Amino acid sequence: MPSLPDRLHRTFFRTLSLLSPKGQGLLLRRYFDWRHRAPDPWKLATDGYEQQKYQVTLKQLPPRPYRRIIEIGCAEGVFTGALAAAYPDAEITGVDVSERALARARARVPENGRVRFVHADFLTHRCEPRHDLVFCSETLYYLGRHERLRRASAQLSDLLTADGVLVAVHPWPEAARLHGYLDAHGTLARISDEVYEIPPRPFAVTVWSPKG
Ligand SMILES: C[S@@+](CC[C@H](N)C(=O)[O-])C[C@H]1O[C@@H](n2cnc3c(N)ncnc32)[C@H](O)[C@@H]1O
Repeated sequence: MPSLPDRLHRTFFRTLSLLSPKGQGLLLRRYFDWRHRAPDPWKLATDGYEQQKYQVTLKQLPPRPYRRIIEIGCAEGVFTGALAAAYPDAEITGVDVSERALARARARVPENGRVRFVHADFLTHRCEPRHDLVFCSETLYYLGRHERLRRASAQLSDLLTADGVLVAVHPWPEAARLHGYLDAHGTLARISDEVYEIPPRPFAVTVWSPKG
């Protein structure tokens, strides 16, 4: 049973998703700029639980020389920095709806020929396709109702190359529902799905590849 704060949180974002996609995007942008009024609101850079989550996520990736990586909902670039270190030859794009978060991401992981940050609402923005690694972590529950989650699944699967890998990380057991939209999209096959019972919040790391 989700906690009361979690249920209120999800209800709030489901209500925002009753707006048009454009209206929802505008409010998400305002909300997340406000959320990022002080640095690192989720303590992603300092919390041991978040660091452990990043480590197990990286370990679960099929070992390949990834060349083109995109992280949707990159916030202040903490995991983007870990990706840049883990894949020093890859081109990496971080996407976030909050310009304030991205200003800090750019300070943390300077943009250069291979790392860049894009300010966009990924529900309405057509990101460049053909990535061999796509990440979406702790972001899908902000998108609200079914139609928006179906839209997000289509957007995420469109980012992949034919042999690319998509990774989603969300709290368990909610991840069963959120990741189910990616299964239902019909173009993706699960490669792996692991639940980590790490306190204070278990989470699932699910990995897909396009169906052959
Ligand atoms: C909880 S943070 C997750 C950060 C990172 N993915 C991680 O796991 O460390 C969620 C981020 O998603 C971003 N976000 C939420 N909805 C978005 C959308 N529609 N398009 C792009 N970014 C979005 C927020 O601005 C926020 O920075």
